[in-house]
Amino acid sequence: MNSLFSKFEGVFDPSSREVELLSRIDPTKLPRHIAVIMDGNGRWAKQRNLPRVAGHRAGISSVRTIVETAARLSIPVLTLYAFSAENWKRPRDEVNTLMALLKEYLRKELSTIHQNDIRFKAIGRIDELPSSVQKELKFAEEETRNNRGTRMVVALNYSGRLELVDAVNHLLKNRTRYPISEEDIENSLYTGGLPEPDLLIRTSGEMRVSNFLLWQIAYAEIYVTEVLWPDFRGIHLLEAVLEFQRRERRYGGIRSPSFQSTR
Ligand code: IPE
Ligand code: IPE
Ligand code: MG
Repeated sequence: MNSLFSKFEGVFDPSSREVELLSRIDPTKLPRHIAVIMDGNGRWAKQRNLPRVAGHRAGISSVRTIVETAARLSIPVLTLYAFSAENWKRPRDEVNTLMALLKEYLRKELSTIHQNDIRFKAIGRIDELPSSVQKELKFAEEETRNNRGTRMVVALNYSGRLELVDAVNHLLKNRTRYPISEEDIENSLYTGGLPEPDLLIRTSGEMRVSNFLLWQIAYAEIYVTEVLWPDFRGIHLLEAVLEFQRRERRYGGIRSPSFQSTR
């Protein structure tokens, strides 16, 4: 029995596959940061002859479960890609619904997030979002700022390239010493101060990163599952973590039993 079980008491049936997966997870080798490209809502809806927005609505249950599961696993950082800077290209109705769902999620879930000691943070060009959304995000950040559990990071109007543009502009504006270092750039990213993702999950089978955390995923382990986001549950997160623990991370070094990463 490992220490993870106590955190899931009453959540999973003792004879369930989730509990079997939990027993195989090494609690000392958990990813410090899991980043998720939540994809496949539209296809999920299409399979059911429903409008795309029904897929987005269904995806909220997955967000709720994954945040809760990550918090129980004590994953320090969970970043969710919710809306890219390119997603404005979608029909206005779909964009409006996504913004409305985000506000609804925050209003309904903030107390649970807070109770679970989760600290909320939004990343991306937040100042370009509708002001009502910005208000809700600020409130969530303020409310949870003293929490010490999982950091829940939501990427909104996010683009990895624009994040780098913003970082470089920030450095220029603050007349950072020349030449700049990797550390200078890292500290100027929206994710400055957070560990970089160890595990990047993409649902719905697409084999691309779609402008997500381009700098930060340099050495992330990539896990793509065919499961569509609205079907993604705790069991799938546990499977991804187990697969992560089977990977050998070399960071450009060579395979060696004594190999220790320096990152
Ligand atoms: C992901 O699902 C949600 C967002 C990008 C906002 P999609 O809406 O991209 O779903 P598919 O890829 O069309 O199935
Ligand atoms: C990436 O998914 C963005 C989010 C999940 C928020 P997309 O569905 O927008 O990505 P592409 O267009 O398939 O690359
Ligand atoms: Mg998609």
